[in-house]
Amino acid sequence: MENKLLEGKTAVVTGGSRGIGKGIALKLAELGANVVINYRSSAKAVEEVIKEIEAQGVKAIAIQGDISNFKEAENIIKGTIENFKTIDILVNNAGITADGLIMRMKEEDFDNVVQVNLKGAFNCIRHASPYMVKQRSGKIINISSVVGITGNAGQANYAAAKAGIIGLTKSVARELASRGINVNAVAPGFIQTDMTEVLSDKVKEGTLANIPLKKFGNCEDIAELVAFLASDKASYITGQVINVDGGMVI
Ligand code: NAI
Repeated sequence: MENKLLEGKTAVVTGGSRGIGKGIALKLAELGANVVINYRSSAKAVEEVIKEIEAQGVKAIAIQGDISNFKEAENIIKGTIENFKTIDILVNNAGITADGLIMRMKEEDFDNVVQVNLKGAFNCIRHASPYMVKQRSGKIINISSVVGITGNAGQANYAAAKAGIIGLTKSVARELASRGINVNAVAPGFIQTDMTEVLSDKVKEGTLANIPLKKFGNCEDIAELVAFLASDKASYITGQVINVDGGMVI
């Protein structure tokens, strides 16, 4: 049998019960990784994902937890180690939006978005990195966004958090490089998921007009890059932010 690219690796995907996280989890499983799906509330959806992953002939478990909570993030990583002994791949995917113009943005909407998108990634990296350092190997992939690079009217909170992810990625990449750990960020453009489904047709049309490839992306477009970055084929890549955006930001 052909050796799969991620055979025997353990991957954790935060917010993996739907959307981009689910796409990533399925792709990593297809390549042979055992997968831990973190989810916050959708127990039913996660069960389905677990079944789909197991159908690939690998192991999968679900761990409930809010990544924005330091202790709960620790439980996700500890649960991974208890079940699989190692943590080879950490994908910080979970994220939320709470859009609004700056003059009307509620303090709690700023705080929540930063707390989940940025602090959540920190929490998981903080708890996973000691294990990766001990193993002297690991791949950390953080899901940022093109708006973390360009900014976006109505998303000051989200863009700030996603820009923060980029600084986090570059700093941790520098710190952990000598331990054989690669840390990169992926910046998706407009990907068709529940998160973007809620946007108005006007916003969608306006966005499409600014995409040179003239189409929205799908979860597989992101999953393909994440799988590559999670593999040893990408061992000489670290501290990078790679856009998957149909040319939105060139
Ligand atoms: P989604 O809303 O479909 O999925 C996000 C997942 O994260 C959900 O399963 C949700 O339950 C989970 N989650 C939210 N807060 C959590 C918390 N505190 N703890 C644990 N899990 C939590 O969104 P989508 O579109 O799949 O986005 C995935 C990532 O990609 C996010 O970080 C998002 O910001 C990013 N992204 C998405 C783009 C898009 O066009 N859809 C564009 C650029 C970035």
